[in-house]
Amino acid sequence: MATSPVPEAAISEVLQVLQKARGYIDGEALRLAASLTGLSPVKVEELCTFYSLVLREPVGTHVLRICDSIACHMAGAQDILAQARQHSGVDLGEVSRSGKLTVIPHVCMGLCDRAPALMVDDQALGPVDTQALTQLLAQLEADIWKPS
Ligand code: FES
Repeated sequence: MATSPVPEAAISEVLQVLQKARGYIDGEALRLAASLTGLSPVKVEELCTFYSLVLREPVGTHVLRICDSIACHMAGAQDILAQARQHSGVDLGEVSRSGKLTVIPHVCMGLCDRAPALMVDDQALGPVDTQALTQLLAQLEADIWKPS
């Protein structure tokens, strides 16, 4: 029986590193992840679908994940999501016209006590109101936003 050179549990870390380097997991990155872990490309594709933070399409410079689960929904997440989508000028999941932003609705991120919550790249923020979002979007567009 063949064994994987890297435990299957390592796939999430491998995907994170590849995504950070490439922006998203394209076919080449998927095949590389399979090669590095000893998993089949089909299995890696399956895991990419399972892990909600894995991006399979090109994204903008910043990815804005806005929680739309119940606690955030009750706290006004739909307004935040609508404002961010309107600002980007494109559909959810697409790269904004400026190339700086991709807005993605997301399931609960475990930040319910900070609802409505969102993530900018890997940085959790919340609670975020429409005024704070306006400021955040302006900073992202001007490339002056920095994680705290
Ligand atoms: S419901 Fe939004 S972070 Fe949990």
